[in-house]
Amino acid sequence: MKISGTGSVLPKKVVTNEMLSRFLDTSDEWITTRTGVRTRHVISDEKLDEMAVEAAQKALDDAGMNPEDLDFIICSNVVNEYVTPQLSCIIQGGIGAACPCIDINCACAGFIYALEIAESFYKAGKVKNVLVVCAEEPTRMTDWTDRRTCVLFGDGAAAVVLTPGDNIRSIKLSASSSTDKLWQYRILQPTPYITKEEQDVPLQMKGQDVFKFAVKAAGRDISRTLKDAGISPDDVDHYLLHQANIRIVNAIRDYMEQPESKFHSNIEDHGNSSSSSCPILLDECNRKGLFKKGDMVAMSAFGAGFVSGAVLFEW
Ligand code: UT7
Repeated sequence: MKISGTGSVLPKKVVTNEMLSRFLDTSDEWITTRTGVRTRHVISDEKLDEMAVEAAQKALDDAGMNPEDLDFIICSNVVNEYVTPQLSCIIQGGIGAACPCIDINCACAGFIYALEIAESFYKAGKVKNVLVVCAEEPTRMTDWTDRRTCVLFGDGAAAVVLTPGDNIRSIKLSASSSTDKLWQYRILQPTPYITKEEQDVPLQMKGQDVFKFAVKAAGRDISRTLKDAGISPDDVDHYLLHQANIRIVNAIRDYMEQPESKFHSNIEDHGNSSSSSCPILLDECNRKGLFKKGDMVAMSAFGAGFVSGAVLFEW
């Protein structure tokens, strides 16, 4: 397939490190040097499903495509206000499409997993035009008294329209179950029969373990896509990595031995917006006109599970 349109939407509320330091034992200096984040967009009166619809509409407009021409919608999401129906069904109605749709929860790697599903359906001859939407509000998952997690995240939605083409050169996915490093529990409705002990626990993270996994997984996943496509790191024009921590991005850059100019980043303004992170960055680069036709783009992401993946595509 090929990416024919992109769109993204951010909540209007911007929270600075200084604002966080008013109620947390933290500082702009700590957050900036340890993560690279200075500000993040945080949901206040917006609804995530409405942001997802708007991002999808922008991607359709960018692609010049009518919603009725879509054959499939894939939405990557970890939490939102609905338990059911799935967000992709709400998006389908919001944009006026009529095709089947599915939600996936692959944490921060959801965009890459969604591209692989779209590409596989396309290669199987089942679809021609696919809308992928990532919509995330990780700021609703964290404990806002926990300085180790809440300073890292921001919210947002982003979408791409995929159409027939051979621009996606390689996608590699991986998963390695490690459920005690990054997780959240929630209590479901009680029943008269529940006897087990249950807890409502906000997002928990062993930051250094996630950091080590991220650097290793991204280096490996990107290298596998390059090998698959028969090209070298030097042949890649743009690296778009999951915006979780600028130190993680820099460590992957060192591993790939590539110049800083190839690594685009928006973590300073956005923080980590989970699976929306990569497509928001893609949309911003696209709208800034940073990509030329024929440019080679490598993208990678990792997240809770653990899951990870990389994609290599020609613009
Ligand atoms: O999409 C995937 C999501 N997650 C990630 O990608 C996270 C990956 N991990 C990381 O980005 C980093 O591990 C963190 C940013 C989470 C933490 O950075 P670190 O350099 O690994 O710090 P640390 O956990 O070793 O903590 C160092 C110190 C600790 O204090 P003590 O024990 O040395 O006294 C923390 O309590 O920094 C303290 N600390 C803070 N201090 C000020 C932790 N968070 C903060 C904070 N402000 N916000």
